[in-house]
Amino acid sequence: MSKKVKICDCTLRDGQQSLIATRLSIKDILPIVGKMDKVGFGAMEVWGGATFDSCLRFLNEDPWERLRKIRKAAPNTKLQMLLRGQNILGYRHYADDVVEMFVRKSIENGIDIIRIFDALNDPRNLETAVKYCKQEGGHAQLAISFTLSDVHTEEYFVNLAKQYRDIGADSICIKDMAGLLLPQSAYDLVKAIKSEVDLPLEVHSHYTSGVASMTYMKAVEAGADIIDTDMSPFAMGTSQPATEVMNAAFKGTDYEIGLDENLLKEISDYFRPIREEALKSGLLNTKVLSVDIATLLYQVPGGMLSNLVSQLKNANAEDKYREVLEEVPRVRADLGYPPLVTPSSQIVGTQSVLNVLMGERYKMVPKETKELVRGMYGRTPVPISDEIRKKIIGDEKVVECRPADLLKPELPAAEEAIKAYKEQPEDVLSYVLFPQVAEEFFKFRQAQKYGIDANLADVKKGVYPI
Ligand code: CO
Repeated sequence: MSKKVKICDCTLRDGQQSLIATRLSIKDILPIVGKMDKVGFGAMEVWGGATFDSCLRFLNEDPWERLRKIRKAAPNTKLQMLLRGQNILGYRHYADDVVEMFVRKSIENGIDIIRIFDALNDPRNLETAVKYCKQEGGHAQLAISFTLSDVHTEEYFVNLAKQYRDIGADSICIKDMAGLLLPQSAYDLVKAIKSEVDLPLEVHSHYTSGVASMTYMKAVEAGADIIDTDMSPFAMGTSQPATEVMNAAFKGTDYEIGLDENLLKEISDYFRPIREEALKSGLLNTKVLSVDIATLLYQVPGGMLSNLVSQLKNANAEDKYREVLEEVPRVRADLGYPPLVTPSSQIVGTQSVLNVLMGERYKMVPKETKELVRGMYGRTPVPISDEIRKKIIGDEKVVECRPADLLKPELPAAEEAIKAYKEQPEDVLSYVLFPQVAEEFFKFRQAQKYGIDANLADVKKGVYPI
């Protein structure tokens, strides 16, 4: 008997987010999602991440309405979303009342599985989301932000997986957002976690460095239960390995995915013209489709490298690239080895550029670096030394508690602010997360309701005085 391996198809969230800047609209999704529902995926990741912001900001869509429509069209498949712990889908810590309502409304509107992660892997930043996810009957999948550094050893990740189990994880995910996880390391890491933590284990990687499909094979051989893929038109490059390919690749092995190839082909055939169109318009840049070997060489995410290049270009200091690359691991060590994901990748990158350009380390320190040192993002993997702390924030106090404990409830003020636009309880969440963008969307929605043939650009210009 071969072991059944499940697929989580991420086309409608990570696939389109990674390749076409999250611009897939509900009009693109609805005609095909019913067919996707028939495949028998373990789950489909369809919401959260950048999709929420993109709906409001670029697509004139209510993200909640999108979720309800997908739920209705795909009644048989578990729907998954990605949530950044206490940051929800935004870039700061939100108060617990917001996290609670967001989680409750996500599940109420159709989400089954919430994949929850924290950029620093601080379990305290996941606790509130986990609590309410479980309270509402959702499946709380806790994701480890995978990274490479001196302190991110197998032992470190196994310990983290145990902590995640202890705070209530229903399953664990190794989330390798940069494509740094090599096949043999994946094998060893999955084996190590599986031997200590008796929960389903999912592996999520990106094809950025070209190794992810091999990494998946080894991970499955080591006992991974679920792998994340996308339909081929939205796979590979900076996205995940392709669903059809992984489905075929296990034939003749002790593992089986066993999805209907013809059905998968029909779904690919639907998405291919959308990909072609995106290539033509430039929305899909061929640059993100090729292998980025620098990722493996420098062990930092591809996106971070291109940010460094553009920062140096702006400062007319492109010749300092190598120096900055050498400074990155030093700054990272100074700041307690944060995983290099948003927002810490930007913090470490910018600080490294400044250290090199100023000719003196930490002569100039941006607000975000100070916040990280103050503990406002949570606990770093290892404590920051007194010497570095003094240099960056002097004698200022460091926050020892969970950062969100310092926040007052945010919903009452937001309710008041959107009184004139509110059409559903969920609107207050859209507003708290993205105040300006949500308000513009609300205005657009009202304009439409009153029969004004508005488009968002005109509303923003103030053509419609609503
Ligand atoms: Co991802």
